[in-house]
Amino acid sequence: MLDLCQPGLIDTAIATLGPPTVASPLSCCRFIPDQPVTVNLSPEDLDDIDADTDVDFDPAGPRAQLYFEPSTARLAIVTCGGLCPGLNDVIHAIVMEAHNNYHVDRVFGVPFGLQGFIPEFGHRLVELSPRSVTGIHRSGGTILGTSRGPQPVEEVVDFIARAGINQLFIIGGDGTMKAAMRITDEVRRRGLEIAVIGVPKTIDNDINLVTSSFGFDTAVERAAEAIRCVHTEAVSVPNGIGVVKLMGRESGFIAAQATLVAKEADFVLVPEASFALHGPGGLLPSLEQHLRAHGHAVIVVAEGAGQELLSRDARTDASGNLHLADIAGLLLAEIGDHLTRQGVPHAFKYVDPSYLIRSVPANANDRVYCGFLGQFAVHAAMAGKTGMVVSKLCGRYVHLPLSLVTRRRRKLNLTSSCWQSVLESTAQHRIVSAAQPA
Ligand code: F6P
Repeated sequence: MLDLCQPGLIDTAIATLGPPTVASPLSCCRFIPDQPVTVNLSPEDLDDIDADTDVDFDPAGPRAQLYFEPSTARLAIVTCGGLCPGLNDVIHAIVMEAHNNYHVDRVFGVPFGLQGFIPEFGHRLVELSPRSVTGIHRSGGTILGTSRGPQPVEEVVDFIARAGINQLFIIGGDGTMKAAMRITDEVRRRGLEIAVIGVPKTIDNDINLVTSSFGFDTAVERAAEAIRCVHTEAVSVPNGIGVVKLMGRESGFIAAQATLVAKEADFVLVPEASFALHGPGGLLPSLEQHLRAHGHAVIVVAEGAGQELLSRDARTDASGNLHLADIAGLLLAEIGDHLTRQGVPHAFKYVDPSYLIRSVPANANDRVYCGFLGQFAVHAAMAGKTGMVVSKLCGRYVHLPLSLVTRRRRKLNLTSSCWQSVLESTAQHRIVSAAQPA
């Protein structure tokens, strides 16, 4: 294990199954020494620091010495949680890297997320080969299927051990990475030689220390299209009010970034910035003022925004995520009432693109990114690394311990240049006085 424990800061050490003693079969590549790389993190990258700080990480990439003899490697890939653009690209990259570069010929897909490990669901492993994954990147979703929610870790590890799997690639969000951590602990407890490698996935971009999760860029691109359409609708009628509701759960990254892409939103409501509806600096009078001045307005509302204005819903989904109350419904009703009372005729153009931003194939950026993630995940597993994820951090591909990425969910930083850009390019500053950092 590299000694990357940085006192007082964060432990970035990556566990390994044992010393790497097998010469890599890879030719034509630059082997990465097992030496830490220093990344300069800003408080925008990591909430734990309040000034730019150098942090050492285990770099991603091929190692000259491996832990696994490639002929003994048996890989399994599982995709969990909600869909995300690029899932098939990661699967494709893992299969191609394993087969074509390491000459591993046993790669399996686990159907329907963690359910696929549990015999009573009756799913069967599928064998994956370069031929079976050819062209899968052209489709959204995951060829393996997915499911939400945990499964008993003992049964999951029983299955992996029975199937002779010694490298597990687990692609998913925050909840999935927590499951990956439990699997790693159980594997360790049983003294098994199984590498557990996570590939963090979510359109919400809310995984700790993962500054841009794959699928986010594609989702933002689609969300920006929705904003553009709603803007076109709103400007085409007198006092048109376009409202776009965007996914993102308790983080406003998609809403903020799509606003910066479309440059056509006037108000952006995110979970991290609470706002008032009424009174000076409230959304309703600010919107009215804007409407009187411009004759139209566009509001982008993240699904998790303004939850404090609604009654809490205690229900959760299978992954334990809280059901979000309907903020868009509240806005439409309150804005309608307010403008009618003020005698301002208006027309709503409401769009909820919902799954349309995430069940699509990856865009060019995400496609290339997913290729690297898949490839680096295989290099890490072959070198015997475990209990970690591959990620790009400030332009460097690195390994991050699962314990670090699951520590908390990432939130939009209201002092970040991203949010400052949102304020500068919209009429959001009119209601900013009501905004409180979450
Ligand atoms: O976490 C990704 C995400 O797309 C969220 O933005 C959204 O709230 C949620 O998943 C919806 O998930 P589903 O309807 O698939 O349970």
